[in-house]
Amino acid sequence: MNTAIAPDVPEANTQMWDKIYRSGSMLWYPAEALVRLVRRHEKSDGFAGTILDHGCGTGNVAEFLTRSGHAVHCTDVSSEALAIVSQRFAKAGLPNPGITLIEPRLDLGQQLPQFNHVIAWQSLCYGTRPNTIASIASLVEVLPAGGCFIMCFPTANDLLYRRSEPLADGSRCFSESVSDQMGAVLTIPESEEELRSWCSGITIRDVVEYGMRFAGEQNQFHVIYGVKA
Ligand SMILES: C[S@@+](CC[C@H](N)C(=O)[O-])C[C@H]1O[C@@H](n2cnc3c(N)ncnc32)[C@H](O)[C@@H]1O
Repeated sequence: MNTAIAPDVPEANTQMWDKIYRSGSMLWYPAEALVRLVRRHEKSDGFAGTILDHGCGTGNVAEFLTRSGHAVHCTDVSSEALAIVSQRFAKAGLPNPGITLIEPRLDLGQQLPQFNHVIAWQSLCYGTRPNTIASIASLVEVLPAGGCFIMCFPTANDLLYRRSEPLADGSRCFSESVSDQMGAVLTIPESEEELRSWCSGITIRDVVEYGMRFAGEQNQFHVIYGVKA
């Protein structure tokens, strides 16, 4: 087991994502699992108010939500990602979503904009375990009662888990490079039960599991879908 945890994890994480986005990395479409969950919640409860797309990356989820008629606010630790989101929306002739740059060394709760629902798609796994669990708690705390909560994490059957090794605090670091993410510190739940346990305050309606075999490698994710109690 690797016991060393770099003290500058948030800074290294942000720099890594900035570099990935500067190199032109861009995603165009949301995952089918996310589309299905959004459609399900539209039918059951609707998304009155604003959806926070936390760790929005290049805005694929935000664009889908906007085109679906929802108000969106994007947050990310990468300023490069947020610049791409603004350009993307301008080029598409869509109204610019709200945008907030998150400083991961500061308390998340103090930095969050007002929102009514939250989607955190494959974003909160980047960081140390204490930080990931605290970030989920901050999002749940600010989410109003009845607000929709959707959060996607890699599972222990995912490529990111296989290519990483544990650190002393339960976080993980890459032992082999995956998608230029070498150096990142990750947090991946060992089981569905563990992921559920991080969602205190959320009435969980479903835990979706989906996967794909891509270039011979299994990618596998869990999605928590629920509402604030
Ligand atoms: C794998 S990408 C996912 C982007 C987008 N949500 C999607 O589904 O395409 C991870 C994103 O999370 C952001 N991120 C990393 N650490 C974060 C943190 N602690 N809080 C919020 N976002 C973070 C990264 O900058 C990156 O844009």
